[in-house]
Amino acid sequence: MNTLPINQILQGNSLELLQTIPDSSIDLIFADPPYFMRTEGKLQRPEGNDFSGCDDVWDNVFADNADYVHFSRLWLEQCHRILKPNGSMWVIGAMQCIYSLGAIMQELGFWFINDVIWHKSNPTPNFHGTRLNNAHETLIWATKDKKSKYTFNYKTAKELNCEIVNFENGERKQLGSVWRIPVCSGNERLKDSSGKKLHNTQKPESLLYRIIAISSQMGDIVLDPFGGTMTTAAVAKRLGRNYIMLERDLRYIQYGKRRLDSVCFDNSPIAKAEFDKKPLKVSLNQMIMAGFLHIGEPFYLKNTPFWASLTNMGKLEFEGQIYDMHALAALLKQARAERLNGFMYWEVKRGDSQILLNNIREQYRSSFEIYSKG
Ligand SMILES: C[S@@+](CC[C@H](N)C(=O)[O-])C[C@H]1O[C@@H](n2cnc3c(N)ncnc32)[C@H](O)[C@@H]1O
Repeated sequence: MNTLPINQILQGNSLELLQTIPDSSIDLIFADPPYFMRTEGKLQRPEGNDFSGCDDVWDNVFADNADYVHFSRLWLEQCHRILKPNGSMWVIGAMQCIYSLGAIMQELGFWFINDVIWHKSNPTPNFHGTRLNNAHETLIWATKDKKSKYTFNYKTAKELNCEIVNFENGERKQLGSVWRIPVCSGNERLKDSSGKKLHNTQKPESLLYRIIAISSQMGDIVLDPFGGTMTTAAVAKRLGRNYIMLERDLRYIQYGKRRLDSVCFDNSPIAKAEFDKKPLKVSLNQMIMAGFLHIGEPFYLKNTPFWASLTNMGKLEFEGQIYDMHALAALLKQARAERLNGFMYWEVKRGDSQILLNNIREQYRSSFEIYSKG
């Protein structure tokens, strides 16, 4: 197969399906593989009723750890092959598997960016009090190699860090590597026709939302080799990304398709990573040509008696010499740096007031945006 099965769910064994995906064609991979939990017998609550953890057949098909490592190496090799040089990959796992998966990834040449702790705010209790309550899973975020220029929507990540105290008052802080998110429950949890939870390890959409929003762009292709209830596809669709989902179990696929039908694109600043868009670079010449500045007009250095005139080359004339406005600001301010940001230091007269050059630049930028949007 040469063309990519964009926005499709492929049924089958990932080990085979991944081989049909072309080299270096995927922007983002999210993998939530079998955990090989090694649970034996039934899990029971202290009151005696059964608890369905991850005791599924698909998780218990491995003869031993070597068998699990062999399986994991095969699919991870394929993921490494299909990932674009500037793409990235997230792998989630619990203590039973994440160390093996991480070791294989490093052997294959993946370069680790972060490991993230998903701290479950409502973890399943350790029913019999025999060990610590297992309240987290680990995610590894990695690139194909060290040189990769992967997507990281840094400011979008800050916008998603909304648990900080003064978020509502406009404060923003870097998103850290411990994410406190509840496990999937309530209406979000898919149920089968008898009302029982459909899948034991359905991941919360808020976890995928963070991952896809910060490490991909609109229109990117997100692939999930172990699709389950199609959480990755649902969030990818909501955020305007394309998806390719692989899953062996037809029942999960059928429910997942129905789930996807009800998802709409959410045309939000987070989806579009608007916070990370670089403002248009603007020169004085461009502002002169667009009529926002005038040749010969005086530029006043804020809070000083100094002024200079704007020349037709987009430079400033001061005491008979021609200067770059950033260098002249630094010189007259006796700054230690050779250049200051002139847009923040020079003012021009408009009517009776003096206006900071930066404000004129913002006016130019908004008019340019209106113009370029037609
Ligand atoms: C941990 S679950 C993924 C859950 C998913 N992230 C979600 O939110 O619903 C792993 C899934 O991989 C599927 N699976 C296991 N081995 C597979 C294989 N070799 N090929 C394709 N799917 C497989 C299982 O059926 C299961 O649904």
